[in-house]
Amino acid sequence: MAKAKVFVTRVIPEAGLGKVREACDMEVWAGRVPPPREVMLEKVRGVEGILSLLNDRMDAEVMDAAGGGLKIVSNYAVGFDNIDVPAATARGILVGNTPGVVTETTADLTFAILMAAARRLVEGVDYIRAGRWETFEPMTLLGRDIYGATLGIVGMGRIGRAVARRARGFDMEILYHNRGGGAAAGEDTGAKRCETLDELLEKSDFVSLHVPLNADTRHLIGRAALGKMKKTAILVNAARGGVVDPEALYEALRDGVIAYAALDVTDPEPLPRDHKLMGLPNCLVVPHVGSASVATRERMAVMAAENLIAAVRGEVPRYLVNPGVVPNRR
Ligand code: DGY
Repeated sequence: MAKAKVFVTRVIPEAGLGKVREACDMEVWAGRVPPPREVMLEKVRGVEGILSLLNDRMDAEVMDAAGGGLKIVSNYAVGFDNIDVPAATARGILVGNTPGVVTETTADLTFAILMAAARRLVEGVDYIRAGRWETFEPMTLLGRDIYGATLGIVGMGRIGRAVARRARGFDMEILYHNRGGGAAAGEDTGAKRCETLDELLEKSDFVSLHVPLNADTRHLIGRAALGKMKKTAILVNAARGGVVDPEALYEALRDGVIAYAALDVTDPEPLPRDHKLMGLPNCLVVPHVGSASVATRERMAVMAAENLIAAVRGEVPRYLVNPGVVPNRR
């Protein structure tokens, strides 16, 4: 039997890629950056599966370019805001993702950038590299204490809870707010629920975002929300860049409305080198590396590959965003 034709939009760890190569007739885009739109539309023609990354826009146009045989878009990420899920569902196309495996690694990174911002580590490295370290200075590079501070977690899902567990080790007081309820979500981490986002923003020394990006959460942290935060507060975003309004954040950091931001994700992404946020000493930016450990990226690759292979074989993949879909209704 002929192998199913699939398109893999970037080179992913061999642990997953090898599985796809073995099971499918695979084409891989070898470029570092996403395939240009017209290339994507051409490469997907006639495929039964697409293994996509979070920066590939998987919309109705791509799905229709693939044609009626497309069974799955398998995302190499837990987030799937790059995929038009209703369009996929309407066409009977399964959407896969990689939940669970990114949780602890992303929580580690969240805590790493939280601490780096609180203790101004990147500024310290820059200070030495600029040749300015001449002596011990009593008033230089003073940061904020993490132990005993209040951490507000917006979105107490898997990653939010993993961050809360780390915060307990630092004797932090932990608050959380879940949009749309989720009352018991944080109790086993010792976190206290805030009824409103405003309450959390007003009380927290650190605010860490862990919500998916969708129409409800786009620019959730804008001028009004930033205005509720403490002047000494540090905002941490390892969720999706679009959850924060970048213009409002720039103004808040510039004008001292909040003290610092630590961002693993930005809007746009990548953030251009000459973007205004990059010029601020109190804004730490890392290049969307939340899940970037060797082991986790391998596990993600295996999961995305297994989702893809199951679907093209007509089986039900294990991790689906739209499990109710009736395959290939067209
Ligand atoms: C995800 O999985 O959604 C992360 O952003 C990248 O691993």
